[in-house]
Amino acid sequence: MLLRLRRHLEFLRLTHVLANLDELLDSALRERPAHAVFLENVLYREVASKTESRIDRRIRNSGLNERKTLEAFDFNFQPTVNKSFILELGRLGFVQRHDDLVITGQPGTGKSHFLKAFGLRACQHGIRVRYARCVDMIDDLHAGLADNSYPRRLRSWTSPTLLIIDDVGLGQVRKRDDEPTAAHSLFNLIDLRHGRVSTAVTSNIKLSEWGKYLGDATVAGAILDRLAMYGIRIDINGPSYRKHLADERAKNSGTLPMLDCPEH
Ligand SMILES: Nc1ncnc2c1ncn2[C@@H]1O[C@H](COP(=O)(O)OP(=O)(O)OP(=O)(O)O)[C@@H](O)[C@H]1O
Ligand SMILES: [Mg+2]
Repeated sequence: MLLRLRRHLEFLRLTHVLANLDELLDSALRERPAHAVFLENVLYREVASKTESRIDRRIRNSGLNERKTLEAFDFNFQPTVNKSFILELGRLGFVQRHDDLVITGQPGTGKSHFLKAFGLRACQHGIRVRYARCVDMIDDLHAGLADNSYPRRLRSWTSPTLLIIDDVGLGQVRKRDDEPTAAHSLFNLIDLRHGRVSTAVTSNIKLSEWGKYLGDATVAGAILDRLAMYGIRIDINGPSYRKHLADERAKNSGTLPMLDCPEH
């Protein structure tokens, strides 16, 4: 009987129930729940376990390299940030409305933290998310020029319901003569996504500097026209949390804070 039961569970791929069968049967013997209660509990545990693995897989596939949360963000440290507005964004209505989002501001102020937290929430809600630093995404697209996989790569960056492009302005956007500018590649992508699915961007440089960074002022203007003019804009003006942590560490160890050292 038990052997047959295990085979059924295997066939149905109820792996969690299979792995915990002894415990489930023991507790049923001890507590003698009504049949329907027992069956519901067994199925509930399998559903919960499958849902968790699905979310885990979605997070891994999204490219999110850290699991940041809004709960872990110290809003008191960054008082110019409108907490209730950020919490509202965290409910992901902007993704449902296909709105774009652009966060600019000084280093260490939490720009990437917010987008990573929104990305994590979106994964938990079953939304297809892709996260990348701007330079890595452009490099990936341009790698497709050599083997004609550019159109496929462009499609794969176009399809996620929420695309997070982090750190525009950080890192060098490489460009060979036979490559389009970063501005052209980014424009192709944003134009395909705009109004259809959400794109969220953080920028470490002023929007007026995008032309120089991306290699084409006119095309950068066209990107910003789509992203920033009709999207949600947040600018964070405030202290760096990285510096705050470095200062705390230095205070605790009695050394000079790294970021205040004369050679830095
Ligand atoms: N107010 C905060 N409360 C808690 N952690 C914070 C806060 N602000 C930033 N952090 C943490 O500090 C680190 C730096 O923040 P983050 O990467 O979001 O900065 P950034 O604005 O994207 O900086 P950069 O412009 O250099 O990319 C991260 O580990 C982040 O989780
Ligand atoms: Mg950042």
